[in-house]
Amino acid sequence: MTASRRSLVDHLLIAADEALRTLSGAASAARASPAREAKAGGDPRVSAGLMRVNHTGEICAQALYSGQALFARDDRVRAALQGAAAEERDHLAWCRGRLKELDAQPSALDPLWYAGSFALGVVSGIAGDRWSMGFLAETEAQVERHLEGHLDRLPADDARSRAIVTQMRDDEARHGSMGRALGAAELPLPVKAAMRMASRVMTRTAYYV
Ligand SMILES: [Fe+2]
Ligand SMILES: [Fe+2]
Repeated sequence: MTASRRSLVDHLLIAADEALRTLSGAASAARASPAREAKAGGDPRVSAGLMRVNHTGEICAQALYSGQALFARDDRVRAALQGAAAEERDHLAWCRGRLKELDAQPSALDPLWYAGSFALGVVSGIAGDRWSMGFLAETEAQVERHLEGHLDRLPADDARSRAIVTQMRDDEARHGSMGRALGAAELPLPVKAAMRMASRVMTRTAYYV
């Protein structure tokens, strides 16, 4: 087997390993949960629905970053993607932990969302680093707005979920700036609109299933 074939196989195995870790709930956080000693309160059904949506969003983030990193050309871009993916892993573990506290299950459709997001990550990675960073910057901007919306909708007394979502929002803003610093291209408007539509389908279904 040639060196480049071998490295592609290596990368695909790493991507498969990442998928299994993400979907099995084996991902662990490097940072302590921002929920720490915060109190829980409010209607747990509302919190569970919203945190299930956020957990699925983080599943998608893992898949996107994994697909993008596979085809990143510039080492700085790949390193930035891997650094951000590590923070997204914290988000994933925090959301999963909160779902457990709420006695709720992750979305049954997570494997589907992972597959679709991985494919999108691969396409944007193949399109080149500037487009890949543009896709990342736009995704993070949309996620940031979405999390702002959840801070409005989460029960005021659920300080545990709110602390997690607040830290996630701050991290996503930093990921977006990183993408722009790495030369993100501005995505065409129809692409942005399609991304908004896909995330609307995700957020509406993951709230219930
Ligand atoms: Fe995240
Ligand atoms: Fe992010």
